Amino acid sequence: MLKRHFDSEYKVLIKYYKIRGVGRKMLQFKKDDLYIEQVKLSDIAKEYGTSTYIYSKSQIVNNFENYKKALSLKEGLICFACKTNSNGAILKLLAELGAGADTTSGGEIYRCLKAGFDPSNIVYAGVGKTAEEIEYALKSKIFMFNVESFEELDAIDKIAGKIKVKAKIAFRVNPHVDPDTHSYIVTGKKGTKFGIPYEDAVNAYLTAKQKKNIVILGIHSHIGSQILDVGSFKLAAQKIKKVVDAVEKNGIKLEYINCGGGLGVEYTKKQKAPSPKQLMSELFPVFDADKKFIFEPGRSIIANAGHLLAKVIYKKVSGGKSFLITDAGMNDLIRPTLYEAYHEIIPVKKTDDKKVKTDVVGPICESGDFMGKDRMLSVVEQGGYLLITCAGAYGFAMSSEYNSRPLLAEVLIDGDKAVLIRKRATYEDLLLNEV
Ligand code: LLP
Repeated sequence: MLKRHFDSEYKVLIKYYKIRGVGRKMLQFKKDDLYIEQVKLSDIAKEYGTSTYIYSKSQIVNNFENYKKALSLKEGLICFACKTNSNGAILKLLAELGAGADTTSGGEIYRCLKAGFDPSNIVYAGVGKTAEEIEYALKSKIFMFNVESFEELDAIDKIAGKIKVKAKIAFRVNPHVDPDTHSYIVTGKKGTKFGIPYEDAVNAYLTAKQKKNIVILGIHSHIGSQILDVGSFKLAAQKIKKVVDAVEKNGIKLEYINCGGGLGVEYTKKQKAPSPKQLMSELFPVFDADKKFIFEPGRSIIANAGHLLAKVIYKKVSGGKSFLITDAGMNDLIRPTLYEAYHEIIPVKKTDDKKVKTDVVGPICESGDFMGKDRMLSVVEQGGYLLITCAGAYGFAMSSEYNSRPLLAEVLIDGDKAVLIRKRATYEDLLLNEV
């Protein structure tokens, strides 16, 4: 009876991943052991230790190809938002697949160039680009800046003049659209720090037209992240189209429409994420047929391709609650505590044990240090492993050394091969830059 219950539960899970990508091959139980592609997760734990971020190459390829196929009707570029995951091996893979890069700092531009991105496929957004970063981006010959204020426009113009180059730009326009997502990751709403306010957009283009060292290429907007409703993207696009029309009436041609990123993924079985094709089929008709498009997906390329493998250090019952204490903490994956984000947690060994309501917590001295609360999980013994799923986006990238915990290892799986793509940091690394 219990066995049947478990099997049906896991079938649901496998179906859930199947809908979202490459299916059974990506995350599946073989007998009682959980695998990513053809690699057993307990083997990864033995070889590389825990906690460890693990990525599936075929899931990344599949996710990117979905975007590429959807865009094939138009000229344009899929720029991976590398803030989600900036491991060089993953960036290199995406560059080889033909991705461009969406960057938000000089450091990200540096990483992308090192990973082999063509600079002419790199776009650069961010409200606080410093003079050094602007000069670095110009000297690196990136594709374009997504300019977010009048003062930034002045700074770019001056620096371009100083080093005798032309700066290609789009304005990031804030369309004043409020999508349904966590308030910390809404960016297109009136009153947020992002972009040129909607009402100032036309004026921004007229100002830019007067600048000697600026070349206007297009328009950009990004309204937020983990958005599951295509309607919000469409509303933003319709508002952006009005700006495009007004700007073009003033004799300024906008060749590129950059629709930003933000497409959500299915962290829970109840969520339904639109496909890139569904998104684009809503957005393309809003604009004139000759427009070229840029998309900046991050989460929808890498979230469901990455998972965090953790070991149970201890289990205990306290105040009538069951706890599994893992070696992964909020410094390794901050999303649950920062955004109250839900990540499905799966014991990597299937058992017939009864399920118990459990909090999965880390070793850090804060009550906010949890991976999941009130989860129905079979009892995992001390030394057993858990997989915290769908953590490829904003997982490792947002991790820190808080509590002097060295940064984790990362492993990329390709079929039956697992490759270490980032060494686990050591105690010595903690002191590396101290003087
Ligand atoms: N383009 C721009 C200008 C962005 O600011 C972002 C994300 C993206 C593209 C990529 O958005 P995506 O496709 O990944 O939704 N740390 C938060 C998410 C912050 C999003 C910031 N901007 C989280 O863990 O949920």
